[in-house]
Amino acid sequence: MSFDLVFFGGTGDLTWRKLMPALFQAFRHGKLPGDGRILAVARDERSDESYREFIRERFAEVEPSKRPSDDEFARFAALLHYRRMDLSRPADYAGLKAWLDERGADTVVLYLATSPHLFPVICEQLGAAGLNGERVRVVLEKPLGHDLASAQEINRVVRSVFSERQAFRIDHYLGKPSVQNLMALRFANALFEPLWRRESIANIQITLAESLGVGTRGDFYDRTGALRDMVQNHALQLLTMIAMEPPSSSDADAIRDEKLKVLKSLKPFTPESVARDVLRGQYKAGMVGGQAVPGYRDEVKVPADSTCETYVALRTEIQNWRWAGVPFYLRTGKRLAARDAQIVVNFRQVPHPIFPGMSHANKLVIKLQPEDGLELHLLAAKGSRQTDALTPVSLDLDFDKAFAADRVGAYERLLLDAIAGRLNLFVRSDEQEQAWRWVEPILDAWQRDPSSLKLYAAGSWGPPAASALVAREGFAWAEEQ
Ligand code: BG6
Repeated sequence: MSFDLVFFGGTGDLTWRKLMPALFQAFRHGKLPGDGRILAVARDERSDESYREFIRERFAEVEPSKRPSDDEFARFAALLHYRRMDLSRPADYAGLKAWLDERGADTVVLYLATSPHLFPVICEQLGAAGLNGERVRVVLEKPLGHDLASAQEINRVVRSVFSERQAFRIDHYLGKPSVQNLMALRFANALFEPLWRRESIANIQITLAESLGVGTRGDFYDRTGALRDMVQNHALQLLTMIAMEPPSSSDADAIRDEKLKVLKSLKPFTPESVARDVLRGQYKAGMVGGQAVPGYRDEVKVPADSTCETYVALRTEIQNWRWAGVPFYLRTGKRLAARDAQIVVNFRQVPHPIFPGMSHANKLVIKLQPEDGLELHLLAAKGSRQTDALTPVSLDLDFDKAFAADRVGAYERLLLDAIAGRLNLFVRSDEQEQAWRWVEPILDAWQRDPSSLKLYAAGSWGPPAASALVAREGFAWAEEQ
């Protein structure tokens, strides 16, 4: 199959930091379909050769095992091309079309790795130039809007040019192997499904913790905040996958229909429930990994009086038969104690304890990163006397080790899927809009009352009030259990 992959924003951070290294991995592993060209477009004047050199230099920043040798780079670079484009000039789109039509590849993937405010103009120009035919797909990188109205506006323009089946909205969390495993765990194994419901599960916790700060992205982040950056998309996507009903098939729309139902069943927030169930925090100076790090307000390009949240913890419920009354706790933050993304399914205690001192309930930990694995926590008898206290033990599965040779990074997976036209791991516009609809009352409440911001020390697990959020129902976060 022949393909042309075009990166708008071809010299931007996302392209050289994530997309090119991911494509190179696909190339190295022989996964990139045979006959392909990769075209970067951007504003400045460059030759193909100087663009290749630009990318070669950037590969120095990639982790050593993922860097190409000279010979590998020379072969990979032969796929790379560059075109100068002014994104508002119709003639430049006509030129691009001519370049693409000359070869007439089976598939053309147009990846918008630019700032999202350019999406409407790029899509309109693509449509006007006739770059929206059957063989064309458009990939839209987050953030897709900053609230419901702006997301709807982007979707309106995208829809006026491309069909829903041509639109690939990226949420890179969906490309992580652990998320694939979550689907396999739930829908390829009979073991868990009978327990996957309110009768057996006490609560579910989704944690997306980062130890890094905002780095050099202070200006973007300060306009965005953790709720928009991580909760509206990554955390909610994970929530839909953990909570959805079994889809009727592995078809993209069968899966996305079920995910949408979960989003629609989320309990809507009111100003009162935001005040009670949502916690927003911001890091102050502290220690991370033995190093002193500055507070958020002292980061580059962040205003000294910023009230932007770098942490969110919240409690919600899914109002349907399977989950009624089960608390779902979501939290995410920067400069937390560890980089740790996981979903913890806490099961209920046995109804009638017969062993002494037995206080642990079973839990299933789905680990997303840094390791990708599963832990099933059980209780076992260590000694032989009936009066001996039981011991918590765990069954551990390390997928990174078990499947090392077949592991594919998130962007590599998603790029290959976009080229192959597989939509399963991409977000449909109605899902995305529903997620905005759900977070908007939180944004509104915060705007009315910015004083709700709680500070936490960098390197901690967030504001102390986060413990109270779960403790009031008799629960604890995973690291406190
Ligand atoms: C991005 C956010 O979507 O996800 C970043 O914009 C965040 O702020 C990143 O750091 C986290 O991704 P990962 O894959 O490193 O967990």
